[in-house]
Amino acid sequence: MKTFDDIEVRRPELARSYLELLKAQPGRPIALFAPRRVGKTYFLDLDLAPAARAAGFTPVYADVWLHRAAPLGAINHALEEALDDATVPSSAVGKAAKTPVKKVGAVGAGIEFGEEPKRRALPNEPALRLDTLVARLAAAGRRPVLLMLDEAQALAESADGAGVMASLRAVLQKRKREVLAVFTGSSPDALAAMMAASGGPMYQFAQLLDFPVLGDDYLNLLAQHYSRVHKGKRLDLAALQAAFAHLGYKPALMKDLVKELSAEGSTDVEATLRRMARDTNNVRGWQALLAPLSLFDRHLLVLLAQRKPPIGQNTLKELARTEGKVPTVAKVRAALERLKRAGILSGAGGDYLIEDPLLVDYLLANGADRPP
Ligand SMILES: Nc1ncnc2c1ncn2[C@@H]1O[C@H](COP(=O)(O)OP(=O)(O)OP(=O)(O)O)[C@@H](O)[C@H]1O
Ligand SMILES: [Mg+2]
Repeated sequence: MKTFDDIEVRRPELARSYLELLKAQPGRPIALFAPRRVGKTYFLDLDLAPAARAAGFTPVYADVWLHRAAPLGAINHALEEALDDATVPSSAVGKAAKTPVKKVGAVGAGIEFGEEPKRRALPNEPALRLDTLVARLAAAGRRPVLLMLDEAQALAESADGAGVMASLRAVLQKRKREVLAVFTGSSPDALAAMMAASGGPMYQFAQLLDFPVLGDDYLNLLAQHYSRVHKGKRLDLAALQAAFAHLGYKPALMKDLVKELSAEGSTDVEATLRRMARDTNNVRGWQALLAPLSLFDRHLLVLLAQRKPPIGQNTLKELARTEGKVPTVAKVRAALERLKRAGILSGAGGDYLIEDPLLVDYLLANGADRPP
């Protein structure tokens, strides 16, 4: 291992346990949820996909969010790519071998190939296309498909969310021998709401699981590398654990912290963490994020950073200080929605979370005044 950036934790057992769970309940997907930036996509890509391949599946990854307006289109696109990989031989030789020879020239010199073998065109209607693609891909690879739908909460956000989810559910149930599915979502509440909407198409369909964050393995690797760089110095595991919790278990932020410690040759985790929250580059980013917000929205954010319930009586009273009068609940709800759309907050149902833990520190230190 050469640098901090090469440090990674692999979780093959976790991947295998999910595959076992899926195999034990054909037709029923699992939905993994966890906050932003804790490593969901990384896990799908580097742990689950290889484990699935080893277990005899064809893994197919689709980021639903990339194509929010037409999520089935995003899924179909990913399946079509996989089907191409499975059926269109990549080398010229492979291509020649699959194409029947029409005519061999008299002296054997001119070989002409016939038409490429063609199948019936795929249906255009997205749900039928999904059904056909799953069947063809499973048949082409002679193995079932593991469909990994990242940012699956976006399914519910499309114009015809309920219709899309109903189609997906129907295909996953009908094709249960040919396809298993894993959903992941960044916005835990949105994914949970989608899966649990009583009477909705996904209700009691997928099995909801909390995706585990990285643990001491990751911290130990960081600390070991630190000690390799700084002979005779050690980082305290308990201090690293506390910092990791403070940073919302986001590995990239944790790595930045240890890199910072290493650059300074310091072992004082807490002091460096405090300094990171004051780091000018971070601060500039937060100022840019906060500057366009109204004083009311910024004040609300500060109260959320203080872990006050957003619609509580005391919160409303405090907000009256910027408003001059107690704001209506509707006004607070509208502000919460705005902050969610801006990507600053996640959550629903009274439980809102500021995504960036260092921004929380900044808000607690600086209050609601317009940033300079
Ligand atoms: N197992 C791991 N080992 C080392 N670093 C990791 C690991 N998992 C994630 N990371 C780091 O955390 C970063 C964020 O991971 P990832 O993009 O997978 O998170 P995510 O949960 O999918 O985030 P989002 O909600 O934004 O989609 C990665 O770029 C990587 O640097
Ligand atoms: Mg992701």
